[in-house]
Amino acid sequence: MKQGAFSLAVLSGVVSTASAALKVDFGSADSIRAAAKDVAFDAVSYYKGNETGEIPGMLGDEPYDWWWSGSVLMSTLIDFWYYTGDSSYNALVPQGLLHQVGPNKDYMPPNHTASLSNEDQGFWGMAAMQAAELNFPSSEADWSSLARNVWSTQLWRFENEETCNGGLRWQVAPTNNGYNYKNAISNAVFINLGARLGRWTGNATYAESAERTWSWLTEVGFLTEDFRVYDGGRVEQNCTDINKAQFSYSAGVLLQSAAFLYNQTTGDAQKRWRDRVVGLTDAILTTFFEDGYHFEIACESRDGACNSAMLFFKGMVTRFLASTVQVAPFTKDSISKVLKTNAEAAVKTCTGGDNNRQCSFSWAKGKFHNETDVPSQLNALSALSVLLQDEVSEKGIATNATSNPDGGSEGGDGSGSNNAGNGGQGQNGNGNGNGNGNGGSAGTTTRVTVGVLVAGLFAALL
Ligand SMILES: *[C@@H]1O[C@H](CO)[C@@H](O)[C@H](O)[C@H]1NC(C)=O
Ligand SMILES: *[C@@H]1O[C@H](CO)[C@@H](O)[C@H](O)[C@H]1NC(C)=O
Ligand SMILES: *[C@@H]1O[C@H](CO)[C@@H](O)[C@H](O)[C@H]1NC(C)=O
Ligand SMILES: *[C@@H]1O[C@H](CO)[C@@H](O)[C@H](O)[C@H]1NC(C)=O
Ligand SMILES: *[C@@H]1O[C@H](CO)[C@@H](O)[C@H](O)[C@H]1NC(C)=O
Ligand SMILES: *[C@@H]1O[C@H](CO)[C@@H](O)[C@H](O)[C@H]1NC(C)=O
Ligand SMILES: *[C@@H]1O[C@H](CO)[C@@H](O)[C@H](O)[C@H]1NC(C)=O
Repeated sequence: MKQGAFSLAVLSGVVSTASAALKVDFGSADSIRAAAKDVAFDAVSYYKGNETGEIPGMLGDEPYDWWWSGSVLMSTLIDFWYYTGDSSYNALVPQGLLHQVGPNKDYMPPNHTASLSNEDQGFWGMAAMQAAELNFPSSEADWSSLARNVWSTQLWRFENEETCNGGLRWQVAPTNNGYNYKNAISNAVFINLGARLGRWTGNATYAESAERTWSWLTEVGFLTEDFRVYDGGRVEQNCTDINKAQFSYSAGVLLQSAAFLYNQTTGDAQKRWRDRVVGLTDAILTTFFEDGYHFEIACESRDGACNSAMLFFKGMVTRFLASTVQVAPFTKDSISKVLKTNAEAAVKTCTGGDNNRQCSFSWAKGKFHNETDVPSQLNALSALSVLLQDEVSEKGIATNATSNPDGGSEGGDGSGSNNAGNGGQGQNGNGNGNGNGNGGSAGTTTRVTVGVLVAGLFAALL
């Protein structure tokens, strides 16, 4: 069913845009913008969610059609618009982000509650928050409320935990594989939403929760003193059996969180967050960058070991680094030059496919290799878009107080009136997840999400 539409779109892409390898003059904003436009076109050609009979927000074909990978597409398109000013794909974003909210507007849609993980839900919430902060033009959405609703469901889960002295589990439904696993990324997305809602609202509750969760990550040993971020541990072992695999996206989510907390604090607290920003930036650039470009060492060091989820990490981390520069401008010197060499390496691979400009995953290889795929397009698109940072520096990152009303933030009023319902929503949401799981649908959801794959990969590496 999807195949016909797919080849048609690819074909029309080829016919209308067939050209030579992607060429970029990195000294010219216009050239970067033009290249990003081409890469965006090729990335979006994988997306069918806006067509009749398809599901808005769901990305691509197997094996890239994770539920959360749709949020990565939306986040990448928001940043593409923000940095380049190109609104070609703006209509797809609210359509996708709003279709997936679920009945409680907390990103627990019935289609995915049975296999829901805190990290998956968190990435959708983060995409909504990004739309609010960047004043994404869409009058129909109250973006920050969606992010807050996600945060509220996760707070409830965190505070009810006895095992490992706190922390969020990876899976939400007790019947799922991975319910007994607490991992860095699930807690990182919760910290991230708290950090950003704190800056958005000015309400100290969010930052306090982020600080508490950060302390827990440190106490349990998933975040080390030298800013390594380990994957997770099992509740049966009180989280002491730490899986020491390091993946860039966990560190990237924490870095952006620390940067937002730095931005909204003063005095000792600000100094503490600044130290964390510096430490994580150094750790990320040392661990995951080689010769100035992203190398996902845990899997990329062995050909073929990066699974279809890990292939998305480079673009995500690129955008977290760029966002860090914006809210913690003192990091500009250390981060911006790497973003440039990173994009240069990415673009060298953009010589493939039928139009000779499709990109590849392994930037170390210096040329196109392997078949074309959507994560490689999104990675290269992110790498290019963020280079236009200086062009947007005066736009700033909005808060509720500074957000542009035309940007769709119904902001405070919605916030206030929805707040009362939040505690209950968290509990109901959890109940739904459990109910679905117990009903047996978990068993039919064999698409495991990132954490389990990560754990599986780690086992394979041992
Ligand atoms: C879906 O979005 C793409 C990219 O913007 C566009 O070319 C296409 O016409 C849209 N399809 C429908 C049915 O609106
Ligand atoms: C849920 O999944 C079904 C089956 O794939 C699909 O038809 C439906 O549109 C989905 N609902 C939502 C709200 O995404
Ligand atoms: C601050 O946020 C928390 C969590 O959403 C909420 O319960 C509380 O009412 C808020 N406080 C104020 C003063 O708005
Ligand atoms: C479990 O680990 C936490 C620290 O992560 C510790 O505070 C707690 O005492 C441990 N509980 C048991 C039963 O060992
Ligand atoms: C091509 O990519 C797939 C994952 O998309 C990977 O399994 C395979 O090993 C890659 N092949 C090469 C030659 O890199
Ligand atoms: C906070 O972020 C804004 C971006 O909107 C930036 O202009 C400002 O300098 C940042 N504050 C600090 C203390 O770095
Ligand atoms: C958020 O902004 C709106 C105006 O856009 C204002 O009415 C509301 O009081 C603000 N809320 C908070 C919590 O600052």
